[in-house]
Amino acid sequence: MRETTLAFILASLSTSCLADVEFLHWWTSKGESKALNVLEQHLLEHNIPLTHSPILGGGGDSAMTVLQARALAGNTPDIAQIEGPSIKAWDDVGIVHTINQTALEQNWDQNLYPLTIDINKTDNGYVALPITLHRLNWMWVNHSLLEKLELSVPKTWPEMFQAMEKAKQADLIPLAIGEQAWQVALLFESLVIANGGVDFYYKALVELQRDHIDTEQMRLALRQLRQISNLVATQHPNQNWDTATQALAENKALFQLGGDWILGDLLASDVKVPEQIGCYSAPQSHNAFLYNMDSFIFMAASDFTQQQATEVANALADKTFQAKFNQTKGSIPVRTDIDLTGFNPCQIQSHDDFIQATKNGLAVPSMTDSMAVNPVAQQAINSEIFRYYRSPEVTEDEVLKRIISIAKST
Ligand code: BGC
Repeated sequence: MRETTLAFILASLSTSCLADVEFLHWWTSKGESKALNVLEQHLLEHNIPLTHSPILGGGGDSAMTVLQARALAGNTPDIAQIEGPSIKAWDDVGIVHTINQTALEQNWDQNLYPLTIDINKTDNGYVALPITLHRLNWMWVNHSLLEKLELSVPKTWPEMFQAMEKAKQADLIPLAIGEQAWQVALLFESLVIANGGVDFYYKALVELQRDHIDTEQMRLALRQLRQISNLVATQHPNQNWDTATQALAENKALFQLGGDWILGDLLASDVKVPEQIGCYSAPQSHNAFLYNMDSFIFMAASDFTQQQATEVANALADKTFQAKFNQTKGSIPVRTDIDLTGFNPCQIQSHDDFIQATKNGLAVPSMTDSMAVNPVAQQAINSEIFRYYRSPEVTEDEVLKRIISIAKST
């Protein structure tokens, strides 16, 4: 008995008890909170209590602005949620801890997808911990409404428009939309892929090649976006993506287009997926897998040392935790060696599509959701597209001219 107690005390002493670790993030929806709870409980098992600094606003634009302001004031959080090229930018500033020890223990060079390595590793080694791989070009379909309207799942945009018209005539919301710049720009990305194909999308919106911007494919995508804007009218000005998802779940909306954080929210609301709400590639996806990835950076400060960062990173890199977190979040794991048993069929589909897309060069990063261009250009492009979507007086010429001048300045 005595020996067991002693062993227990020794085991607890081997992990030091960290002071509260502050985590800045933008996970505030129902599904995101549930996933966050998995994370919090897991860290607690490692004697690491978490303090949250949630910044409202999916897509993370506001959170990134707050992070910059706090860094300038010398008051960084310990951990921050982050995406894409910003990781390298923060590493250049020189205020992030490396997590090479964790990477070595977890054999990340072998176990992560090459794309994951590319995003999270710099010349200094691993400077961010990857956590989710989200698919963004999903179409979520309310099956009972589809049946009621005697429609089948649209595969092309003309079919999609016909279905949306029919839903509107039946007084239903044709497409549930988050009325925010990044949500509307994400929709635009799917239209660009549909009209131009994957290579075209990459040149126009990832590389911002000027001769690909003022083109018929982009003009058609803009016209379709205007058509959607006229069709859906403003549902609820400024509504968040998760309010839109709620309308889908409550049989008020026929479709929603967007990332699989929507799946996380549906599952958290006990909606049966794919039975009640199905997941399908966005119309005319050309087998593209449009992705973004959430990572964490660990910020160097006197009260958050390299050793503490490594301790937290070790806990978060745990495979069982990463599986459970992604399962709840709606995303798929960032590494190759996680068994997907028990994951939702839409996640298994996402994983299969990802593997196929990477083989064929069809996995492409989302510009809109922080995976391609620098954050200033990204926000400027998103807001141009949003302005066009909202204001009928803004012309195609005007938007394209402005995107070209943003491209020139990058
Ligand atoms: C993040 C997701 C998040 C979504 C909506 C995206 O930028 O990658 O993790 O769920 O925004 O908040």
